[in-house]
Amino acid sequence: MKNEHGVGILGLGIFVPEKILTNQDLEKMVDTSDEWIVERTGIRERHIADENTATSDLATHAAEKALAEAGMSPDELDLIIVCTATPDMFFPSVACLVQANLHATKAAAFDLAAGCTGFMYGIATGTQFIRSGFYKKVLVIGAETLTKIMDYTDRNTCVLFGDGAGAVVLGECQSGYGILGLDLGADGTGGDLLKLPAGGSRIPASAESVANRLHFVHMNGNEVFKFAVKVMGETAVKALDNAGLAAGDIDLLIPHQANIRIIQSAAKRLKMPMDKVMVNVDKYGNTSSASIPIALREAIDAGRIKDGDIIVAVGFGAGLTWASCVIKWGKGANTIA
Ligand code: ACO
Repeated sequence: MKNEHGVGILGLGIFVPEKILTNQDLEKMVDTSDEWIVERTGIRERHIADENTATSDLATHAAEKALAEAGMSPDELDLIIVCTATPDMFFPSVACLVQANLHATKAAAFDLAAGCTGFMYGIATGTQFIRSGFYKKVLVIGAETLTKIMDYTDRNTCVLFGDGAGAVVLGECQSGYGILGLDLGADGTGGDLLKLPAGGSRIPASAESVANRLHFVHMNGNEVFKFAVKVMGETAVKALDNAGLAAGDIDLLIPHQANIRIIQSAAKRLKMPMDKVMVNVDKYGNTSSASIPIALREAIDAGRIKDGDIIVAVGFGAGLTWASCVIKWGKGANTIA
């Protein structure tokens, strides 16, 4: 059943831990340099959770802000989706932990795993629940504590990631506004390029798996880089096509913040000038599922998004996965501004 309303973002909240790890700090930990990290990745610093903070804590703080902005109480929520690759534990899900923290007693809750593309998959999933008329208000959260699964002896990965969370409340908005187009994809044959090998049913946790450092992120950076550059432009164009739009219609691109060179290459493929591309990877590093809502929040706060703008958010990540969504922004649409 197709709903006559649009589906838009009614509230958006982000949260990052206070503690900052700079490139200079990393210079003391592994054989790297501020110069190398900035030149190859664009990252200058990242926020990191302390030992007492888990993903559900960041997720809950972001959710509270999103609900406040939407002017809603938690018991109005029908569904909570938490997109994460770094849950507090296997089960219960982070979404259930957040549901309890918020006292969102009427909400169903589940986690969604799509690597760094998680938030885009979550937006797509939440949108379908509302479009179908099954639910009215869906909280979608991208929350990660990637630094908890980093090998701080591996310079190839430990300089890249940071922690954070972003949450949106999705609900009905004026037709023609909100989420206009979507594209999702996956290529499981590339799963080995980016993975956390142990701790699951394939390699259960053992003294040996710990000694072999298999509970940390393992990545083939060069291959992930090539994949990301190729797929970002393609998925953005497909989502635009789904919305009946073209690359020239984009007012602001919000790419997953993994590496400035990936972002620049994707913008080039879309023939977009960098002043139409949101970049904040320098301050946060790669916060995986949280990077797009954090970038969106900062773009709004910087006055870079105005009524009627076409925003395209593009994600890619482990799986391999990718996804994009096209949003027509506007106060009149009940989306925030
Ligand atoms: N400091 C100094 N030197 C380093 C560092 C470091 N932190 N890391 C790697 N190097 C060295 C390498 O060892 C290599 O040295 P060698 O030539 O002596 O062997 C040299 O730098 C070049 O290494 P490359 O891997 O070719 O460097 P590249 O320019 O490709 O940059 C990077 C590496 C930054 C990892 C890049 O490939 C990248 O960003 N890839 C994508 C990663 C990504 O986005 N992952 C997240 C995906 S989303 C998700 O779901 C989590």
